[in-house]
Amino acid sequence: MTDLATGPVFTDDYWADPYGTLSRLREIAPVREVDLPDGGSTWLVTRYADVRAAFVDPRLAKDFRSTMPPDERPAEPLIPGPAGHMLLLNDPPVHTRLRKLVVSAFTVRRIAALRPAIEQIATSLLDQAEQAAEVDLVADFSVPLPMAVICELLGVPTDDRDAFARWSNTMIDSSPQEEKWQAQASLTAYLSDLVDAKRGAPDEALLSALIRASEDGEALSHDEIVAMGMILLIAGHETTANLITNSVHAVLRDDALRERVLVAESLTPMVEEFLRWTSPVANAPLRFATEDLELGGVTIPRGAVVTLSVAAANRDPERFDAPELHDAGRDLTGHVAFGHGIHFCLGASLARLEAEVALTALFDRFPRLSAAVPLDEIVYRHSMLIHALAALPVRLSP
Ligand code: HEM
Repeated sequence: MTDLATGPVFTDDYWADPYGTLSRLREIAPVREVDLPDGGSTWLVTRYADVRAAFVDPRLAKDFRSTMPPDERPAEPLIPGPAGHMLLLNDPPVHTRLRKLVVSAFTVRRIAALRPAIEQIATSLLDQAEQAAEVDLVADFSVPLPMAVICELLGVPTDDRDAFARWSNTMIDSSPQEEKWQAQASLTAYLSDLVDAKRGAPDEALLSALIRASEDGEALSHDEIVAMGMILLIAGHETTANLITNSVHAVLRDDALRERVLVAESLTPMVEEFLRWTSPVANAPLRFATEDLELGGVTIPRGAVVTLSVAAANRDPERFDAPELHDAGRDLTGHVAFGHGIHFCLGASLARLEAEVALTALFDRFPRLSAAVPLDEIVYRHSMLIHALAALPVRLSP
């Protein structure tokens, strides 16, 4: 076993069971620099209190330019093209302006109105899946569902949805890097044309609402609107898919949990606890220290990359008693599955709604759904960012 106070963290032990490693780290080295699996290093923060504090610390920036002296900062984002304008890559005041505009279009009413469409998407995916003796829940249900919902939300025309889903899946699956870049370029070009088309022929969906909001108030540039479409797709697709898959995986491993799911009047509280318990986004996307700063008694140097471990914070016994138990009745306030502070997940209510509808549809119809391979063969992907299963082969009916 490696020395977690100084040695490597992302070992086979971590991938087999991240929570064991994270819980030891939280005790012996709650803020420490660790080597990343793909090269480079980051400061990993694992205690709930430190993670919460770091989420609202303005000295931890999302835009690397914020670490540079003001007179040396390039005027344009470091990432070229629309991508550099994405919410999660920007700090105030740019982030504040972008977020205000999207919040005005991303209303509670718009999200609630999606419920019938989400129910219909879930039903039709299950109709298709039912034809096969065995299905991969990831590829056949959890991934296509949020994809279809985002198309609905943004207003992607029905005829274009297959291509849109193909590019998007290539970006997140294990395709070679060159294909991923190509898919991203195709998607960006497509979104750019779509924004132009919506200007000429507006509809009731979100892209048109963004165009309208930006014409009424502080303008969003064309690239900023395209970037909003991209971030909603990237942030809202696989994250929600993982919440659905990880929840089903938990049920397959625990008969008592299954019974609680089956008798629950509403799955809303269950979903909230699944969020804490499975942390679909395991580590918040990177932040950069804009000055030397102290966190949990450790000094992090200016320019350092900082990673907040959502998974570790959500299982910190200092905040959640018996954190390894799934208990939908516990006080869940302040869990950090959706982050905290100015970058708090914009799509939180949509994600909750999608998971509730998806899991209700699945377990109402297939209460005895079972794993089609031995449970110990089901493995998590080696991803720093997300807590995701590569596949979950299931039999819908016994
Ligand atoms: C931000 C988690 C679903 C859109 C975030 C952050 C987390 C998160 C942890 C904060 C990142 C940080 O501070 O570095 C999740 C989880 C989801 C989910 C666990 C599903 C279970 C969605 C959905 C959408 C969405 C469905 C939209 C369709 C966003 C956006 C941001 C964000 C736009 C950036 C907000 C900003 O920078 O101001 N999400 N998310 N997310 N999420 Fe989600």
